[in-house]
Amino acid sequence: MPRINKREFLRASSCAGLGWLLGDSVWARFADVPPRQLAQREDFWETIRSNYRLKPDYINLESGYYSMQAEPVLEAFIAKVRQANYEASYYLRTKQVPDKLAIRTRLAATAGCSADELVITRNTTESIATVVNGYDWKAGDEAVMAEQDYGHMVAQFKLIARRYGTVNKVVSVPGDPKSDDEIVQVYAKAITPRTRLLMVSHMINVTGQILPVRKIADLAHARGVDVLVDGAHAFAHFDFRIPDLGGDYYAASLHKWLGCPLGTGILYVRKDKITKLWPIYADWRITDDADIGKLNHTGTHPVHTDLAIDSAIAFHNSIGIQRKEARLRYLQTYWTSKVRGMKNIVLNTPSDPARTCAIANVGITGVTPADLAATLFDKYRIFTNAVDNPAGGVQGVRVTPHVFILPRELDVLVKAIAEIARAV
Ligand SMILES: Cc1ncc(COP(=O)(O)O)c(C=O)c1O
Repeated sequence: MPRINKREFLRASSCAGLGWLLGDSVWARFADVPPRQLAQREDFWETIRSNYRLKPDYINLESGYYSMQAEPVLEAFIAKVRQANYEASYYLRTKQVPDKLAIRTRLAATAGCSADELVITRNTTESIATVVNGYDWKAGDEAVMAEQDYGHMVAQFKLIARRYGTVNKVVSVPGDPKSDDEIVQVYAKAITPRTRLLMVSHMINVTGQILPVRKIADLAHARGVDVLVDGAHAFAHFDFRIPDLGGDYYAASLHKWLGCPLGTGILYVRKDKITKLWPIYADWRITDDADIGKLNHTGTHPVHTDLAIDSAIAFHNSIGIQRKEARLRYLQTYWTSKVRGMKNIVLNTPSDPARTCAIANVGITGVTPADLAATLFDKYRIFTNAVDNPAGGVQGVRVTPHVFILPRELDVLVKAIAEIARAV
Protein backbone atom coordinates (compact mmCIF):
# COMPACT_ATOMS: atom_id res chain seq x y z
CA MET A 1 0.00 0.00 0.00
CA PRO A 2 1.23 3.51 -0.70
CA ARG A 3 2.74 5.68 1.97
CA ILE A 4 1.20 9.06 2.38
CA ASN A 5 2.53 11.56 -0.12
CA LYS A 6 4.14 14.54 1.55
CA ARG A 7 3.27 17.05 -1.15
CA GLU A 8 -0.34 15.94 -1.18
CA PHE A 9 -0.41 16.10 2.59
CA LEU A 10 0.89 19.63 2.74
CA ARG A 11 -1.56 20.69 0.08
CA ALA A 12 -4.51 18.97 1.67
CA SER A 13 -7.02 20.82 3.77
CA SER A 14 -7.48 19.80 7.37
CA CYS A 15 -10.75 18.16 6.45
CA ALA A 16 -9.12 15.72 4.08
CA GLY A 17 -10.77 12.32 4.12
CA LEU A 18 -9.34 8.87 4.26
CA GLY A 19 -9.38 8.50 0.50
CA TRP A 20 -6.76 11.18 0.37
CA LEU A 21 -4.60 9.49 3.00
CA LEU A 22 -4.67 6.00 1.55
CA GLY A 23 -5.29 6.68 -2.07
CA ASP A 24 -8.75 6.19 -3.49
CA SER A 25 -8.23 2.65 -4.73
CA VAL A 26 -7.15 1.47 -1.30
CA TRP A 27 -9.84 3.38 0.45
CA ALA A 28 -12.50 1.83 -1.74
CA ARG A 29 -11.80 -1.44 0.11
CA PHE A 30 -12.34 0.04 3.55
CA ALA A 31 -14.85 2.84 3.12
CA ASP A 32 -17.88 0.86 4.19
CA VAL A 33 -16.28 -1.17 6.95
CA PRO A 34 -17.80 -0.11 10.31
CA PRO A 35 -15.20 1.14 12.86
CA ARG A 36 -15.44 -1.90 15.14
CA GLN A 37 -14.78 -4.27 12.26
CA LEU A 38 -12.11 -2.05 10.79
CA ALA A 39 -10.41 -2.15 14.18
CA GLN A 40 -9.39 -5.73 13.36
CA ARG A 41 -8.34 -5.18 9.74
CA GLU A 42 -4.54 -5.34 10.00
CA ASP A 43 -4.09 -4.48 6.32
CA PHE A 44 -5.70 -1.11 7.04
CA TRP A 45 -3.66 -0.42 10.20
CA GLU A 46 -0.42 -1.50 8.54
CA THR A 47 -1.01 1.39 6.16
CA ILE A 48 -1.51 3.83 9.00
CA ARG A 49 1.62 2.42 10.65
CA SER A 50 3.65 3.02 7.50
CA ASN A 51 3.27 6.74 8.15
CA TYR A 52 5.36 6.51 11.33
CA ARG A 53 9.10 6.10 11.67
CA LEU A 54 9.43 3.48 14.38
CA LYS A 55 12.65 2.69 16.13
CA PRO A 56 13.36 -1.01 15.57
CA ASP A 57 15.18 -1.42 18.91
CA TYR A 58 12.05 -1.75 21.03
CA ILE A 59 8.27 -1.90 20.96
CA ASN A 60 7.01 1.50 22.02
CA LEU A 61 4.12 0.97 24.43
CA GLU A 62 4.52 4.34 26.11
CA SER A 63 2.66 6.79 23.89
CA GLY A 64 0.98 8.20 27.00
CA TYR A 65 3.74 10.67 27.74
CA TYR A 66 4.37 11.87 24.23
CA SER A 67 2.92 10.36 21.11
CA MET A 68 5.32 10.73 18.23
CA GLN A 69 4.19 12.73 15.24
CA ALA A 70 3.38 10.82 12.08
CA GLU A 71 6.05 11.46 9.44
CA PRO A 72 3.85 13.74 7.31
CA VAL A 73 3.08 15.85 10.38
CA LEU A 74 6.75 15.99 11.31
CA GLU A 75 7.63 17.07 7.77
CA ALA A 76 4.98 19.78 7.87
CA PHE A 77 6.30 20.91 11.26
CA ILE A 78 9.85 21.16 9.92
CA ALA A 79 8.54 23.15 6.95
CA LYS A 80 6.90 25.57 9.41
CA VAL A 81 10.15 25.92 11.35
CA ARG A 82 11.87 26.82 8.07
CA GLN A 83 9.13 29.24 7.12
CA ALA A 84 9.20 31.06 10.48
CA ASN A 85 12.96 31.33 10.25
CA TYR A 86 12.99 32.37 6.59
CA GLU A 87 10.32 35.03 6.93
CA ALA A 88 11.34 35.92 10.49
CA SER A 89 9.81 39.15 11.81
CA TYR A 90 7.89 39.61 8.57
CA TYR A 91 6.07 36.35 9.29
CA LEU A 92 5.43 37.27 12.90
CA ARG A 93 4.15 40.74 12.03
CA THR A 94 2.00 39.90 9.05
CA LYS A 95 0.88 36.27 9.16
CA GLN A 96 1.20 34.86 12.64
CA VAL A 97 -2.07 36.14 14.07
CA PRO A 98 -4.41 35.11 11.21
CA ASP A 99 -2.64 31.75 10.86
CA LYS A 100 -3.06 30.98 14.54
CA LEU A 101 -6.68 32.08 14.52
CA ALA A 102 -7.38 29.76 11.59
CA ILE A 103 -5.81 26.86 13.46
CA ARG A 104 -7.80 27.69 16.57
CA THR A 105 -10.97 27.53 14.46
CA ARG A 106 -10.05 24.06 13.16
CA LEU A 107 -9.18 22.92 16.68
CA ALA A 108 -12.53 24.19 17.92
CA ALA A 109 -14.25 22.15 15.20
CA THR A 110 -12.33 19.07 16.42
CA ALA A 111 -13.37 19.86 20.00
CA GLY A 112 -16.96 20.61 19.04
CA CYS A 113 -16.91 24.02 20.69
CA SER A 114 -16.97 27.60 19.53
CA ALA A 115 -13.62 29.15 18.56
CA ASP A 116 -14.10 31.99 21.02
CA GLU A 117 -14.15 29.49 23.90
CA LEU A 118 -10.76 27.99 23.06
CA VAL A 119 -7.11 29.00 23.21
CA ILE A 120 -3.94 27.18 22.20
CA THR A 121 -1.61 26.67 25.14
CA ARG A 122 1.67 24.82 25.60
CA ASN A 123 0.16 21.89 27.47
CA THR A 124 -2.35 20.72 30.05
CA THR A 125 -0.16 22.06 32.84
CA GLU A 126 -0.42 25.61 31.52
CA SER A 127 -4.15 25.27 30.83
CA ILE A 128 -4.91 24.02 34.34
CA ALA A 129 -2.61 26.62 35.91
CA THR A 130 -4.48 29.32 34.01
CA VAL A 131 -7.78 28.26 35.56
CA VAL A 132 -6.54 27.53 39.07
CA ASN A 133 -4.61 30.80 39.28
CA GLY A 134 -7.44 32.70 37.63
CA TYR A 135 -9.72 32.49 40.68
CA ASP A 136 -10.05 35.08 43.43
CA TRP A 137 -9.41 32.57 46.19
CA LYS A 138 -10.27 33.39 49.79
CA ALA A 139 -9.03 31.58 52.89
CA GLY A 140 -11.38 28.69 53.67
CA ASP A 141 -12.55 28.23 50.06
CA GLU A 142 -12.52 24.57 49.09
CA ALA A 143 -11.56 22.61 46.00
CA VAL A 144 -12.22 18.93 45.26
CA MET A 145 -9.91 16.60 43.37
CA ALA A 146 -8.87 12.93 43.42
CA GLU A 147 -5.93 10.94 44.63
CA GLN A 148 -5.83 9.48 41.11
CA ASP A 149 -5.45 12.87 39.38
CA TYR A 150 -2.08 13.73 37.88
CA GLY A 151 0.23 14.73 40.76
CA HIS A 152 1.44 18.01 39.27
CA MET A 153 -2.14 19.14 38.68
CA VAL A 154 -3.05 18.42 42.32
CA ALA A 155 0.13 20.31 43.25
CA GLN A 156 -1.29 23.43 41.64
CA PHE A 157 -4.10 23.34 44.18
CA LYS A 158 -1.61 22.67 46.98
CA LEU A 159 0.25 25.82 45.97
CA ILE A 160 -2.97 27.82 46.07
CA ALA A 161 -3.71 26.37 49.51
CA ARG A 162 -0.32 27.52 50.81
CA ARG A 163 -0.73 30.94 49.29
CA TYR A 164 -4.36 31.73 50.16
CA GLY A 165 -5.29 29.28 52.92
CA THR A 166 -7.74 27.32 50.79
CA VAL A 167 -8.66 23.72 51.61
CA ASN A 168 -8.29 20.75 49.24
CA LYS A 169 -10.60 17.77 49.60
CA VAL A 170 -8.96 14.77 47.97
CA VAL A 171 -11.23 11.82 47.18
CA SER A 172 -10.30 8.33 46.01
CA VAL A 173 -12.01 7.02 42.88
CA PRO A 174 -12.95 3.28 42.79
CA GLY A 175 -10.79 1.53 40.18
CA ASP A 176 -13.32 -0.96 38.84
CA PRO A 177 -16.76 0.50 39.61
CA LYS A 178 -20.01 -1.33 39.00
CA SER A 179 -21.82 1.88 38.10
CA ASP A 180 -21.23 5.57 37.40
CA ASP A 181 -23.11 6.39 40.55
CA GLU A 182 -20.45 4.69 42.66
CA ILE A 183 -18.00 7.33 41.40
CA VAL A 184 -20.42 10.27 41.46
CA GLN A 185 -21.21 9.59 45.14
CA VAL A 186 -17.52 9.78 46.03
CA TYR A 187 -17.38 13.32 44.65
CA ALA A 188 -20.79 14.22 46.11
CA LYS A 189 -19.57 13.46 49.65
CA ALA A 190 -16.61 15.84 49.27
CA ILE A 191 -18.64 18.90 48.23
CA THR A 192 -19.56 21.37 50.98
CA PRO A 193 -21.10 24.86 50.91
CA ARG A 194 -17.52 26.23 50.72
CA THR A 195 -16.54 24.27 47.59
CA ARG A 196 -15.82 26.49 44.59
CA LEU A 197 -14.00 24.30 42.10
CA LEU A 198 -13.94 20.57 41.38
CA MET A 199 -11.23 19.08 39.19
CA VAL A 200 -11.92 15.74 37.53
CA SER A 201 -9.74 13.70 35.20
CA HIS A 202 -11.53 12.69 32.03
CA MET A 203 -9.18 9.72 31.84
CA ILE A 204 -6.96 8.70 34.77
CA ASN A 205 -3.47 8.78 33.37
CA VAL A 206 -1.97 5.74 35.07
CA THR A 207 -4.88 3.31 34.71
CA GLY A 208 -6.73 4.55 31.63
CA GLN A 209 -10.04 4.70 33.49
CA ILE A 210 -12.58 7.03 31.85
CA LEU A 211 -14.68 8.89 34.41
CA PRO A 212 -18.36 9.85 34.02
CA VAL A 213 -17.55 13.54 33.71
CA ARG A 214 -21.01 14.66 32.63
CA LYS A 215 -22.65 13.15 35.70
CA ILE A 216 -20.01 14.59 38.02
CA ALA A 217 -20.36 18.01 36.38
CA ASP A 218 -24.15 17.95 36.72
CA LEU A 219 -23.81 17.07 40.39
CA ALA A 220 -21.28 19.85 40.99
CA HIS A 221 -23.33 22.45 39.14
CA ALA A 222 -26.44 21.54 41.10
CA ARG A 223 -24.44 22.53 44.20
CA GLY A 224 -23.03 25.72 42.65
CA VAL A 225 -19.52 24.32 42.07
CA ASP A 226 -17.45 24.98 38.92
CA VAL A 227 -15.90 22.04 37.10
CA LEU A 228 -12.40 21.83 35.64
CA VAL A 229 -11.82 18.75 33.47
CA ASP A 230 -8.30 17.43 33.01
CA GLY A 231 -8.50 15.94 29.55
CA ALA A 232 -4.77 15.45 29.00
CA HIS A 233 -5.35 11.87 27.87
CA ALA A 234 -8.83 12.05 26.43
CA PHE A 235 -8.71 14.66 23.69
CA ALA A 236 -8.36 13.07 20.21
CA HIS A 237 -8.18 9.64 21.90
CA PHE A 238 -11.90 8.84 21.88
CA ASP A 239 -14.97 10.51 20.52
CA PHE A 240 -16.69 13.31 22.44
CA ARG A 241 -17.51 17.00 22.16
CA ILE A 242 -16.15 19.16 24.96
CA PRO A 243 -19.40 21.10 25.60
CA ASP A 244 -21.32 17.81 25.98
CA LEU A 245 -19.26 16.97 29.05
CA GLY A 246 -20.83 19.89 30.90
CA GLY A 247 -17.56 21.16 32.42
CA ASP A 248 -16.77 24.86 32.72
CA TYR A 249 -13.12 24.39 31.76
CA TYR A 250 -11.35 21.71 29.76
CA ALA A 251 -7.57 21.32 29.58
CA ALA A 252 -5.67 18.98 27.24
CA SER A 253 -2.29 18.33 25.68
CA LEU A 254 -2.10 17.93 21.92
CA HIS A 255 1.30 16.21 21.96
CA LYS A 256 -0.38 13.12 23.37
CA TRP A 257 -3.29 11.76 21.33
CA LEU A 258 -3.49 14.31 18.53
CA GLY A 259 0.14 13.58 17.62
CA CYS A 260 1.25 17.23 17.55
CA PRO A 261 4.77 18.48 18.22
CA LEU A 262 5.83 18.75 21.85
CA GLY A 263 4.51 21.84 23.59
CA THR A 264 0.93 22.09 22.33
CA GLY A 265 -2.27 22.13 24.34
CA ILE A 266 -5.71 23.64 24.62
CA LEU A 267 -7.80 25.42 27.19
CA TYR A 268 -11.57 25.57 26.75
CA VAL A 269 -13.48 28.04 28.89
CA ARG A 270 -17.25 28.10 28.67
CA LYS A 271 -18.32 31.50 27.37
CA ASP A 272 -20.03 32.67 30.53
CA LYS A 273 -16.99 31.78 32.67
CA ILE A 274 -14.42 33.83 30.78
CA THR A 275 -15.15 37.21 32.36
CA LYS A 276 -14.41 36.24 35.94
CA LEU A 277 -11.08 34.44 35.26
CA TRP A 278 -7.95 36.50 35.90
CA PRO A 279 -5.20 36.02 33.28
CA ILE A 280 -1.74 34.99 34.43
CA TYR A 281 -0.04 37.24 31.87
CA ALA A 282 -1.34 40.74 31.24
CA ASP A 283 -2.09 41.81 27.66
CA TRP A 284 -2.57 45.50 26.94
CA ARG A 285 -4.55 44.81 23.77
CA ILE A 286 -7.30 42.97 25.56
CA THR A 287 -9.65 45.32 27.26
CA ASP A 288 -12.73 43.13 27.00
CA ASP A 289 -12.86 40.77 29.94
CA ALA A 290 -15.15 38.43 28.01
CA ASP A 291 -12.54 37.85 25.28
CA ILE A 292 -10.77 34.52 25.85
CA GLY A 293 -7.70 36.03 24.16
CA LYS A 294 -6.95 37.70 27.50
CA LEU A 295 -5.94 34.27 28.84
CA ASN A 296 -3.53 33.65 26.01
CA HIS A 297 -0.79 36.24 26.03
CA THR A 298 2.21 34.10 25.20
CA GLY A 299 4.87 36.69 24.40
CA THR A 300 7.18 35.74 21.55
CA HIS A 301 7.07 31.97 21.33
CA PRO A 302 7.84 29.08 18.91
CA VAL A 303 4.86 29.75 16.68
CA HIS A 304 5.89 27.01 14.22
CA THR A 305 4.90 24.49 16.89
CA ASP A 306 1.36 25.84 16.95
CA LEU A 307 1.25 25.97 13.16
CA ALA A 308 1.93 22.24 12.90
CA ILE A 309 -1.31 21.51 14.77
CA ASP A 310 -3.07 21.96 11.45
CA SER A 311 -1.30 19.01 9.87
CA ALA A 312 -1.87 16.84 12.93
CA ILE A 313 -5.60 17.57 12.71
CA ALA A 314 -5.48 16.65 9.02
CA PHE A 315 -3.81 13.33 9.82
CA HIS A 316 -6.19 12.67 12.71
CA ASN A 317 -9.24 13.47 10.58
CA SER A 318 -7.92 11.25 7.85
CA ILE A 319 -8.24 8.26 10.15
CA GLY A 320 -11.39 9.56 11.84
CA ILE A 321 -11.99 9.66 15.57
CA GLN A 322 -14.47 6.79 15.60
CA ARG A 323 -12.07 4.49 13.76
CA LYS A 324 -9.22 5.59 15.99
CA GLU A 325 -11.20 5.03 19.18
CA ALA A 326 -12.39 1.59 18.05
CA ARG A 327 -8.85 0.52 17.13
CA LEU A 328 -7.30 1.82 20.34
CA ARG A 329 -9.89 0.08 22.50
CA TYR A 330 -9.44 -3.09 20.46
CA LEU A 331 -5.67 -3.03 21.03
CA GLN A 332 -6.10 -2.61 24.78
CA THR A 333 -8.72 -5.31 25.20
CA TYR A 334 -6.72 -7.57 22.86
CA TRP A 335 -3.92 -7.92 25.39
CA THR A 336 -5.73 -7.30 28.68
CA SER A 337 -8.29 -10.03 27.92
CA LYS A 338 -5.41 -12.49 27.48
CA VAL A 339 -3.72 -11.74 30.82
CA ARG A 340 -6.73 -10.93 33.00
CA GLY A 341 -7.28 -13.76 35.46
CA MET A 342 -3.77 -15.21 35.06
CA LYS A 343 -2.05 -16.21 38.31
CA ASN A 344 -0.14 -13.32 39.96
CA ILE A 345 -1.46 -10.75 37.48
CA VAL A 346 -3.18 -7.62 38.77
CA LEU A 347 -4.93 -5.48 36.19
CA ASN A 348 -5.32 -1.93 37.45
CA THR A 349 -7.77 -0.99 34.71
CA PRO A 350 -11.57 -1.38 34.70
CA SER A 351 -12.90 -4.60 33.22
CA ASP A 352 -15.75 -2.76 31.44
CA PRO A 353 -14.38 -1.74 27.99
CA ALA A 354 -16.70 1.28 27.97
CA ARG A 355 -14.68 2.72 30.87
CA THR A 356 -11.37 2.42 29.02
CA CYS A 357 -9.70 2.94 25.67
CA ALA A 358 -5.99 2.54 24.75
CA ILE A 359 -4.37 2.78 28.17
CA ALA A 360 -4.17 -0.05 30.69
CA ASN A 361 -1.99 -0.89 33.65
CA VAL A 362 -0.75 -4.29 34.76
CA GLY A 363 1.11 -5.38 37.87
CA ILE A 364 2.61 -8.69 38.91
CA THR A 365 2.39 -9.76 42.55
CA GLY A 366 5.85 -9.82 44.11
CA VAL A 367 7.49 -7.77 41.35
CA THR A 368 7.98 -4.04 41.84
CA PRO A 369 6.75 -1.82 39.01
CA ALA A 370 10.32 -0.63 38.42
CA ASP A 371 11.60 -4.22 38.13
CA LEU A 372 8.73 -5.18 35.86
CA ALA A 373 9.38 -2.25 33.51
CA ALA A 374 13.12 -3.01 33.55
CA THR A 375 12.60 -6.71 32.74
CA LEU A 376 10.15 -5.88 29.96
CA PHE A 377 12.69 -3.58 28.43
CA ASP A 378 15.92 -5.45 29.05
CA LYS A 379 14.70 -8.95 28.25
CA TYR A 380 11.79 -8.39 25.87
CA ARG A 381 12.56 -4.98 24.31
CA ILE A 382 9.21 -3.56 25.34
CA PHE A 383 9.09 0.04 26.55
CA THR A 384 6.44 0.80 29.19
CA ASN A 385 6.21 3.11 32.19
CA ALA A 386 6.45 2.02 35.83
CA VAL A 387 3.78 3.41 38.17
CA ASP A 388 4.31 2.90 41.89
CA ASN A 389 1.49 4.64 43.71
CA PRO A 390 0.16 2.46 46.53
CA ALA A 391 -1.88 5.38 47.95
CA GLY A 392 -3.71 5.70 44.64
CA GLY A 393 -4.10 1.91 44.50
CA VAL A 394 -1.87 1.45 41.44
CA GLN A 395 1.32 -0.57 41.24
CA GLY A 396 2.23 -1.79 37.80
CA VAL A 397 3.37 -0.69 34.39
CA ARG A 398 1.30 1.54 32.17
CA VAL A 399 0.90 0.15 28.68
CA THR A 400 -0.07 2.68 26.02
CA PRO A 401 -0.27 1.55 22.40
CA HIS A 402 -0.98 4.13 19.70
CA VAL A 403 -2.41 3.59 16.21
CA PHE A 404 0.91 2.35 14.87
CA ILE A 405 1.03 -0.64 17.23
CA LEU A 406 -0.03 -4.03 15.88
CA PRO A 407 -1.48 -7.04 17.76
CA ARG A 408 1.62 -9.12 16.99
CA GLU A 409 3.60 -6.67 19.15
CA LEU A 410 1.06 -7.04 21.93
CA ASP A 411 1.52 -10.82 21.65
CA VAL A 412 5.14 -10.23 22.66
CA LEU A 413 3.88 -8.31 25.69
CA VAL A 414 1.40 -11.03 26.67
CA LYS A 415 4.08 -13.71 26.41
CA ALA A 416 6.49 -11.61 28.46
CA ILE A 417 3.95 -10.92 31.20
CA ALA A 418 2.96 -14.58 31.38
CA GLU A 419 6.59 -15.68 31.69
CA ILE A 420 7.42 -13.10 34.36
CA ALA A 421 4.28 -13.97 36.35
CA ARG A 422 5.06 -17.70 36.16
CA ALA A 423 8.56 -17.13 37.46
CA VAL A 424 7.41 -15.39 40.67
C1 LIG B 1 -3.90 13.47 33.56
C2 LIG B 1 -2.78 14.38 33.21
N1 LIG B 1 -2.89 15.68 33.47
C3 LIG B 1 -1.91 16.54 33.15
C4 LIG B 1 -0.76 16.12 32.55
C5 LIG B 1 0.31 17.12 32.23
O1 LIG B 1 0.43 17.16 30.84
P1 LIG B 1 1.57 18.10 30.21
O2 LIG B 1 2.87 17.66 30.79
O3 LIG B 1 1.46 17.85 28.75
O4 LIG B 1 1.23 19.47 30.62
C6 LIG B 1 -0.58 14.77 32.29
C7 LIG B 1 0.66 14.29 31.66
O5 LIG B 1 0.86 13.14 31.39
C8 LIG B 1 -1.60 13.89 32.62
O6 LIG B 1 -1.50 12.58 32.38
